[in-house]
Amino acid sequence: MGFKIAVLPGDGIGPEVVKEAVSVLQAVAPGFEYEEALIGGAAYDEVGHPLPAATLALCKRADAILLGAVGGPKWDHVQPVEMRPEVGALLPLRSELNLYANLRPARIFSALKEASPLKEPEIDLIVVRELTGGIYFGKPRERREGGDVAVDTCVYSKAEIRRIAIRGFEIARQRRKSLVSVDKANVLETSRLWREVVAEVAGDFPDVKLEFMLVDNCAMQLVRNPGAFDVILTENMFGDILSDEAAQITGSLGMLPSASLSDNKGLYEPAHGSAPDIAGQGIANPLATILSAAMMLKYSFGMDAEAATVEGAVEKTLADGVRTRDLGGEASTSEMGSAVVSRLYL
Ligand code: IPM
Ligand code: MG
Repeated sequence: MGFKIAVLPGDGIGPEVVKEAVSVLQAVAPGFEYEEALIGGAAYDEVGHPLPAATLALCKRADAILLGAVGGPKWDHVQPVEMRPEVGALLPLRSELNLYANLRPARIFSALKEASPLKEPEIDLIVVRELTGGIYFGKPRERREGGDVAVDTCVYSKAEIRRIAIRGFEIARQRRKSLVSVDKANVLETSRLWREVVAEVAGDFPDVKLEFMLVDNCAMQLVRNPGAFDVILTENMFGDILSDEAAQITGSLGMLPSASLSDNKGLYEPAHGSAPDIAGQGIANPLATILSAAMMLKYSFGMDAEAATVEGAVEKTLADGVRTRDLGGEASTSEMGSAVVSRLYL
């Protein structure tokens, strides 16, 4: 039980929501060691870099990482761009730690059905997004010809596609055994390679139903009939876009957790951002971060029972009508956190 957790509160509402998630972890799984470090704009302001060497070193030492959020208007124009929280902290953290598998579950809690913009919301899907390759990381990335031409390069290797595909199929196997692989194979060479490798991997998972779908069609089907999706497997940028879409159709962005996994480490963070407009007011919804902590228990520590306990406490809290402002209520961040803690063993 002596696991070490790196705690990176970051910017905006990050510190407020992380505090509640740590309280939940301490209650459900006592004995973890926590060490806090600077990241994002907060780190840039304090020590002049959004991902200080000490923070990266801590993350490498730790068994798992709990991240709040990074970024905000204050740092949107910092130069060079490598010093901005997103490009200077988030992306290098992902690549340095090899966190290639990003899991973004989107589901509707029964107590929150009225929040979805859909008429008959039945959503329980997970986006499995490749996180350390593709156009986010391809070289060259440059401005040419006196500034008139810009280049971003999308690169994928078979090995990169294979490892994320295996993750996707393994996850599908533990769920409803249906996987939709999303690409733009009618246009992109990387997508044609993606299809080839995913089809190969599928051979090892005959029990999982595989379908290929073009990304534009997937964006449409997600709004038309989200209940039809179980696992969506896709590359970095398509996954970025589709996971935001999936989040929004649940109607409550404040509820959605995420995990970013390497073969031996995980980083856990809420899917919402730093929400600078409500930072410091104690009104942010901590449930996405608390549910991210539950994912940590499950994926980093194999503590499935404790993870289920946390998820159950969140369900009870919502069923009892406790709501933060984003869910139409009045509860503060810390009241919501305490409400979950008090329901862990009810
Ligand atoms: C996300 C974010 C990041 C991404 C940005 C902030 C770089 O949108 O985690 O989805 O695009 O990966
Ligand atoms: Mg995004």
